Amino acid sequence: MTPRIRKAVFPVAGLGTRFLPATKTVPKEMLPIVDRPLIQYAVDEAIEAGCDTLIFVTNRYKHAVADYFDKAYELEQKLEQAGKEAQLALVRNVLPSHVRAVFVTQAEALGLGHAVLCAKAVVGDEPFAVMLPDDLIWNRGDGALKQMADLAQHAGGSVVAVEDVPRAMTSSYGIVDAPDFDGRSGLVHSMVEKPAPSEAPSTLAVVGRYVLDSRIFGLLEETKPGKGGEIQLTDAIARLLQEQPVRAYRFQGTRFDCGNHLGLIEATIRFALDHEVLSSGAAQAMRTALDELGVVEH
Ligand code: UTP
Repeated sequence: MTPRIRKAVFPVAGLGTRFLPATKTVPKEMLPIVDRPLIQYAVDEAIEAGCDTLIFVTNRYKHAVADYFDKAYELEQKLEQAGKEAQLALVRNVLPSHVRAVFVTQAEALGLGHAVLCAKAVVGDEPFAVMLPDDLIWNRGDGALKQMADLAQHAGGSVVAVEDVPRAMTSSYGIVDAPDFDGRSGLVHSMVEKPAPSEAPSTLAVVGRYVLDSRIFGLLEETKPGKGGEIQLTDAIARLLQEQPVRAYRFQGTRFDCGNHLGLIEATIRFALDHEVLSSGAAQAMRTALDELGVVEH
């Protein structure tokens, strides 16, 4: 049995070029989905999975992420004086008191693998999670990371989240070969970053949740730049699975790729329609927009 994960790494040092010009000043992770920034959803999922140490890998431009998790003394004081208890609770509950946030800097955007390696000293020698906040996973039951942490704890080894993608899309993802995949999970035999559709070993794509053994750090240190000239996490995992079991796990839930425009819009629609206060207003606004713009539903 593997120890329960306690630490989660959030690589948020990317440039977010697909959301320019907004990301000129607002980090992608701070874009709101209805009433909370994207990063908050991933943080809540990590805490639900049992993590109490959140490690943010940022760059020197992303003060907004650190500021968001810092205590806002003046704001809290003003809300308190104004008797705005509900808003005060929102500001204070960004992180529960038993959870600590640690920030490390990735000096240069050398790739996701390199960003994870930057967290080595804080993670140490224990299994940990990697969460890409761009991948927002909506589920009514247990969060995706909790599902994966449970599997890792009971089965041992590492776990990568996967979902089926159309074959034409394989060149946008890391793709696993898991011959014994039973529909929910299976041992990964090999893994390849962004293969052409004709070369992809399957259509099971790795998405932004990982539970990894700390041995990954040594492998990342030896990993040379791969696809796109970046140090790829996939390349290091492809070596890890030669040393110990790595399982592919198809989580229960719906993933929205909020790293692109349409994914962000889809997530906004879903979370608005599922919102306890805003749901009916959001549905009405959507109907009105469809009517007024004469959008035909196919
Ligand atoms: P993306 O491939 O989505 O890149 O990175 P990006 O820079 O965030 O966005 P675009 O493509 O320019 O619009 C996937 C994840 O890896 C992190 C990103 O912050 C994102 O969470 N990342 C990527 C780093 O932390 N460092 C890197 O060097 C590269």
